[in-house]
Amino acid sequence: MEIDAETALLAVLGHPVRHSLSPVMHNAGFRARGRNCCYLALDVAPEDVPAAVTGLRALGALGANVTVPHKEAVLPLMDEVSPVALAAGAVNTIVVRDGRLCGDNTDVGGFIASLAEVGFDPCGRGALLFGAGGAARGVALGLLRAGAGPIWIANRTYRRAVDLTDSLQGAARPGPDGAGAVTPLALEAVPAVAARAALVVNCTSVGLGPTAGESVWNDFACFRPGTLAVDIIYKPPVTPFLRAAASAGLPTLGGLGMLVHQAALAWEVWFGEKGPVDVFYAAARRVLGGD
Ligand code: ATR
Repeated sequence: MEIDAETALLAVLGHPVRHSLSPVMHNAGFRARGRNCCYLALDVAPEDVPAAVTGLRALGALGANVTVPHKEAVLPLMDEVSPVALAAGAVNTIVVRDGRLCGDNTDVGGFIASLAEVGFDPCGRGALLFGAGGAARGVALGLLRAGAGPIWIANRTYRRAVDLTDSLQGAARPGPDGAGAVTPLALEAVPAVAARAALVVNCTSVGLGPTAGESVWNDFACFRPGTLAVDIIYKPPVTPFLRAAASAGLPTLGGLGMLVHQAALAWEVWFGEKGPVDVFYAAARRVLGGD
């Protein structure tokens, strides 16, 4: 659709942001669904985040996505925050509604939707997460809301695993057989609990940037056959973490599904309808495949 005086503005705010797949996905979606919208990638320095976010309102933008490293910083700038964004402590989707900035989080639901797409229901099942940063918090929260448990948070820095576990206790509802329970774990202790997990997820940044080519965990023999190994990193499609899991015979899932589904759920926030998942996959793969 041609950009004209009616075109609504959306954007992703990040730093850096030039690598983002969101513009190609959303703009392909707008073309497919005939929406008169335009989606840009805007590189916003940390000190400019308040001005950029209030600028969305001033410009009459429809909304925005927020990506690394601003997801936590924008939360206190919102007029309203959804319960899931509040629990995650992070906003990845903003909608400007009647001049009010409303913050939401579709990463949490996007992760669970990507599991559903491959037929994995986390309800009542054990999950072992590597990492204790913002990404691990979102994944853990999604799993808890879906009824998973027990959940183990394994991290290089044990103290951070304890802190994340403590802060998730509000969302955790321990029941029989450890369902809903969250426990911190040192990396050395992973083999001792691995057999109780039906899901193992890399939520660390290992495999990205300076650690591209590395995996936070390589010995998957301690997991039961059939345990689903997930990496939320989507580039490359098969990360070293997933390669190691696959070589131990485990089924694997990359991070592209989470990216696509968080985008589809962002449409629900902006437009009240889910975005076109197939169009998003095709657009993202076109760019990733061209690397
Ligand atoms: P995010 O908010 O994206 O999750 P983060 O808060 O920087 O990012 O967290 C990065 C995660 O990757 C942390 O769990 C970090 O472990 P530490 O808490 O010990 O720093 C983990 N991580 C990063 N590099 C790592 C490495 N080389 N080995 C193991 N874990 C690593």
